[in-house]
Amino acid sequence: EKGGFDHFMLKEIYEQPRSIKDCMRGRIYPEEGKVQLGGIKEFAEKLKNIDRIIIVACGTSWHAGLVGEYLIEEYARIPVEVEYASEFRYRNPIITEKDVVIAISQSGETADTMAAIEMAKERGATIFGICNVAGASIPRLTHAGVYTHAGPEIGVASTKAFTAQVTVLTLMAFYMAQQKGTITTSKLIELLTELDHIPEKIQVALASNDLIKEVAEKIKDSTNCLFLGRGSGFPVALEGALKLKEISYIHAEGYPAAEMKHGPIALIDEEMPVVFIATQNSSYEKVISNIQEVKARKGKVIAIVTQGDTEVKKMADYCIEIPDANEAFLPLLATIPLQLLSYHIAVMRGCNVDQPRNLAKSVTVE
Ligand code: M6R
Repeated sequence: EKGGFDHFMLKEIYEQPRSIKDCMRGRIYPEEGKVQLGGIKEFAEKLKNIDRIIIVACGTSWHAGLVGEYLIEEYARIPVEVEYASEFRYRNPIITEKDVVIAISQSGETADTMAAIEMAKERGATIFGICNVAGASIPRLTHAGVYTHAGPEIGVASTKAFTAQVTVLTLMAFYMAQQKGTITTSKLIELLTELDHIPEKIQVALASNDLIKEVAEKIKDSTNCLFLGRGSGFPVALEGALKLKEISYIHAEGYPAAEMKHGPIALIDEEMPVVFIATQNSSYEKVISNIQEVKARKGKVIAIVTQGDTEVKKMADYCIEIPDANEAFLPLLATIPLQLLSYHIAVMRGCNVDQPRNLAKSVTVE
């Protein structure tokens, strides 16, 4: 049942080229520059005039929501707020009939996310769901939704469900942009053509597994670890830190790289591994100066870089390459090496990777 892999988590990491393909099937038409999302099509008109989107979720799904915020604001130019469901439900938020709430949940059973949906619904908002488990409670509570089609996820640490959520949010961002006319057909042709090939690029990212294992060996005995990124690399950093915490029990924190000098920099010494999302995109130069700041304090730098990078290689202790891609697709690719890194560290530390202590696959109590 683990398909020859030692753990479900590893099997699910390796399934991502296929799960992302399944998630896009029948939804993207690269030659025409068109996105079709049957699940939300009856709201196509409404999407032209919404003032705001609120994304509610917990844990990894909340990280996917942060990626969604970048993409929806960038392409559809609709303001987005991303909220922890547990906070949102208890703070009397301002919600109107003009709001669209997107609830993201792998299991579709998370208690806080369900309560947030119920509250927003009572106040008249339109609720979309992004779920993996068909027929779960959340899809039944929402007005419309898009399934992630990642297939059953057994490992408690979410991997393929996360990249499928990000894929759906990418499709939603493009769909909304298409409805609102904030994107041209030629741009959509270009983006969808590239998105269509992301599964192959994920395959390439997975091929760094042996190198990632070597890096894991070097940092497995650390007690702390920082993950830093900018732009959409920031939620990737948060997700990398959460993965490491939950399965290896190493204390890890994700931060926007520029925030480092506002506090966490005090933690850096030769014992502190710092994982950077340092791919060649709009924040590349800025991230390089953040890497220099860490090196100046003798921190150990592990960098996720674009294939063929030379600049970061001069500074970082270890570099893990991912294929070049449009910035919109960076989270899908940069997440892969971080999943593998956490996995190998946890295995080396003798942890129960698929069922970490104190955690359950779905959190049905608040
Ligand atoms: O099923 P959900 O997506 O609603 O679950 C939300 C979180 O409990 C979940 O993402 C959790 O953070 C995972 N263990 C992360 O790997």
